[in-house]
Amino acid sequence: MTRQTDAISASILSANFARLGEEVDHVLASGADFVHFDVMDNHYVPNLTIGPMVCEALRKHGVTAPIDVHLMVKPVDRIVPDFAQAGATYITFHPEASEHVDRTLQLIKNEGCKAGLVFNPATPLSILEYVIDKVDMILLMSVNPGFGGQSFIPTALTKLRQVRQIIDASGREIRLEVDGGVKASNIREIKEAGADTFVAGSAIFGAANANDPQRYNTIVQQFRAQLAEARF
Ligand code: DX5
Ligand code: ZN
Repeated sequence: MTRQTDAISASILSANFARLGEEVDHVLASGADFVHFDVMDNHYVPNLTIGPMVCEALRKHGVTAPIDVHLMVKPVDRIVPDFAQAGATYITFHPEASEHVDRTLQLIKNEGCKAGLVFNPATPLSILEYVIDKVDMILLMSVNPGFGGQSFIPTALTKLRQVRQIIDASGREIRLEVDGGVKASNIREIKEAGADTFVAGSAIFGAANANDPQRYNTIVQQFRAQLAEARF
């Protein structure tokens, strides 16, 4: 079973929201592959961010790259069709936030999107056993959800290796994504532990000189160089 090609998913949580369209254009022109779209509801997580209208606005602005919607909301099902309509590519959710995980996965797929489950640092992986046939992405949190700019929790590497084995044993094409504290200094070991999809917010959007139109190129190139060094 070959791994999916590496994808860098830029978390716009750390972008300048007052210039969001331009920020997304620049980060994609700098080589990011996906737009990571963090949806927080001040209920499941203690923060409040953006919803389907902003996703739709990015599509209308001309964004054609995959939009990787990370739902940190409870309940989940009510908002899924809105995100599908708004142009989401992937929709991932936390199993703790849905009463009926299988139903929510099915709902996302019926709406024409790719479906994924998100595991917090302390959430066991056992729920995967019976739903892996409906999963297109597994997102491992390497911080507790709610905020950008936190430090990577090292035990996520052990969990990544476990998920890589589960995915390989399934024989399915499932992306393995990591979210939280990803930097140029740790992205290589994260790939070596099994990830193929790398979310980065503060490392990308915090690195830039605001006046440089190529401002995210340097950090994205550093990520790519580190990923190319990975051995597994
Ligand atoms: C946290 C979010 C992340 C966040 C990552 O709850 O899910 O996507 O933006 O930010 P960094 O890369 O700064 O840790
Ligand atoms: Zn996220």
